[in-house]
Amino acid sequence: MSLFRLDASILPTTSASRSLADLVEAEWRTAHPASEVVRRDLAADPVPATAWADVVTSNFVDEGDRSDRQREARSLATTIADELVDAEALLFAVPLYNYGVSQHFKTWFDLAYTDPRIDPQGTALRGKPATLVTVLGGNYAAGTPKEGWDHSTSWLRRVLEDVWGLDLRVVERPFTLVGVNPALDSFADTAAELKQTAETHAVRSGREIAGLVAASR
Ligand SMILES: Cc1cc2nc3c(=O)[nH]c(=O)nc-3n(C[C@H](O)[C@H](O)[C@H](O)COP(=O)(O)O)c2cc1C
Repeated sequence: MSLFRLDASILPTTSASRSLADLVEAEWRTAHPASEVVRRDLAADPVPATAWADVVTSNFVDEGDRSDRQREARSLATTIADELVDAEALLFAVPLYNYGVSQHFKTWFDLAYTDPRIDPQGTALRGKPATLVTVLGGNYAAGTPKEGWDHSTSWLRRVLEDVWGLDLRVVERPFTLVGVNPALDSFADTAAELKQTAETHAVRSGREIAGLVAASR
């Protein structure tokens, strides 16, 4: 039994999402020291962009007539789904890129979603404790000039919470580009507060998912 952790940041050495996910993972490890942490690093090991279509099209082909690529894609989909189904809790760390969802995460999600166990009517993931850590370079809060431009967070929440039925906590840290992009220097105090709030939420959510799993054992 285990925690499954997915990372989607393409810049691991400076990653704010990985740092926050580390806080969640640390709480998990404290509560469940003997438990395994299964990792999927989508930057180091991206899911091939062709895999999803290969699985979908393979469903219209007799098993013996499937191409090698279709067979490999089906096998990868099963491995990815196994990781989700087998874990007791899930942790996703996903940045905002180009005002939308990370392409690495979308490719991974689409492939996982081909597995019949991971179905809105299925029970394999329903109610499973989970944390989504998401980080944004800018700030898209209500009343800000870019309100409505974050097309990642609401999609992530929709698919993880409503489609997959996870018992989801969302830890969000906006303004990670403050201190990196000089044009944002005037937001240093706000960004520092948002960072601290996100860290507090990350620790809390790690304790919560670990506690829920402990209570269910
Ligand atoms: C290629 C690229 C595109 C990005 N696009 C956006 C964007 O559209 N909006 C935004 O607010 N931040 C954007 N960012 C900033 C990232 O969201 C921010 O740096 C975040 O902290 C990255 O996650 P990480 O720190 O875990 O690597 C982008 C960063 C990169 C590298």
